[in-house]
Amino acid sequence: MREHGVLKRILLVYREGIRRLQAGDKTPAQALNAGAEIIRSFIEDYHEHLEEQYVFPKLEQAGQLTDVTAVLRTQHQRGRILTDRTLAATSGAGVPDKAGRDALIRDMSAFIRMYEPHEAREDTIVFLALRAVVPAKEFRDLAETFEDEEHRRFGQRGFEGVVDKVADIEKSLGIYDLSQFTPT
Ligand SMILES: [Fe+2]
Ligand SMILES: [Fe+2]
Repeated sequence: MREHGVLKRILLVYREGIRRLQAGDKTPAQALNAGAEIIRSFIEDYHEHLEEQYVFPKLEQAGQLTDVTAVLRTQHQRGRILTDRTLAATSGAGVPDKAGRDALIRDMSAFIRMYEPHEAREDTIVFLALRAVVPAKEFRDLAETFEDEEHRRFGQRGFEGVVDKVADIEKSLGIYDLSQFTPT
């Protein structure tokens, strides 16, 4: 699912935030808050909602990967708690003190640590299993349902509009230019 690409890019935003906090730089509160807002609206309220409403139940009804879907559901819930705290810590109510900065580092690190394996497992195991249990026509209908929901929530530009916002956050942190990541 291409939504996972947006998730991955916010994980990179969080990682840059952690790097700056650990270096003792100014907390990039605005960028981190904007990133956490995208996690809330696009990943948790939209993408994970669809997984919980359509993807996991199809597998559970087919008796497939039920141990995995149980863990993924729990991880969605834990992720929300971390996002609540990340939003609160970066909401602009003054500069967080040392304890607040350490807590923010811990929460963003825990979020990254959980979501890298979470999204990788979904991409390599869960969505393939879904294709195997859902007939082709139903699978296409499901994709259309997702697309409709995307435009209902995020307007005409949908996914692309969300990606533009992610790019703006990356630019504000100086991590947009892809070539900077090429080893010399
Ligand atoms: Fe998920
Ligand atoms: Fe997912």
